[in-house]
Amino acid sequence: MTETTTLKLLKMKQAQEKIVMVTAYDYTSAKLVAAAEVDLILVGDSLGMVMLGYSDTLAVTMEEMLHHTKAVARATKKAMVIGDLPFMSYQVSTEQAITNAGRLLQEGGAQAVKLEGGASVAPAIARITAAGIPVFGHLGFTPQSINQLGGAIFQGKTATTAQKLLEEALQLEDAGICGLVLELIPLEVAALITSRLRIPTIGIGSGLDCDGQVLVWHDFLGMDQEFHPRHAKIFAEVGSLIRQGIVAYATAVKDGSFPTIANTKILAIEEKAALEEAIGRENI
Ligand code: KIV
Repeated sequence: MTETTTLKLLKMKQAQEKIVMVTAYDYTSAKLVAAAEVDLILVGDSLGMVMLGYSDTLAVTMEEMLHHTKAVARATKKAMVIGDLPFMSYQVSTEQAITNAGRLLQEGGAQAVKLEGGASVAPAIARITAAGIPVFGHLGFTPQSINQLGGAIFQGKTATTAQKLLEEALQLEDAGICGLVLELIPLEVAALITSRLRIPTIGIGSGLDCDGQVLVWHDFLGMDQEFHPRHAKIFAEVGSLIRQGIVAYATAVKDGSFPTIANTKILAIEEKAALEEAIGRENI
């Protein structure tokens, strides 16, 4: 079992100890995240954009989620790995939801799943949690509804919509979620929801009062030169370091300074002599 458990998350909330969640999508980056001892690793369906080049999360399939979740799960023992249920993998029926949630644990090696939405997904959440699978909810800007919401836009900006978000958060808690991602919600609304829930909230663009924070790997490590969302901060310019490394490598190959003898192996003198003897000196 992992060190981060649902019970530990509750205790962290009670002790006002901030919870750290980071996305990862492959073995090597998950190893780096695990070494930094974060609490939660989310294999987000944001992988559709940052790993697969799709324009949004809608095209992501269960098979793609399983492929990446397996790689991440192999890299970590302590952090809880959460697999996102992709678009249309849980909305059709509660049976479909429970089957796919089970696959993320059984085949993917995750310890929990996350799905988006409010009241409409509460029955599915109740069934999944009843099967012993921890579920994280996701309210506010829910990327799988981007076509309905009209873009990555803040949600809950009016008293009425803020109250609806609070009601939905309470419904999700009643259904059994162990944590709730609040994406792009005004900070007062996120603070209100956080104070009313027993389970922890994990914010993204929703202010400091959430019980924890989540950021997408590529956003806080400066991996994309063009995309700098307002909700994120670049904590290390890894992207530019990588670009410098690639240019340096390409330059060295072109100017002949790489590889050197140190990067290869030379034949033992007697083997070289034997080879020359066998095939003729002029052929070597
Ligand atoms: O898919 C994802 O990366 C997410 C986070 C933005 C919370 O859902």
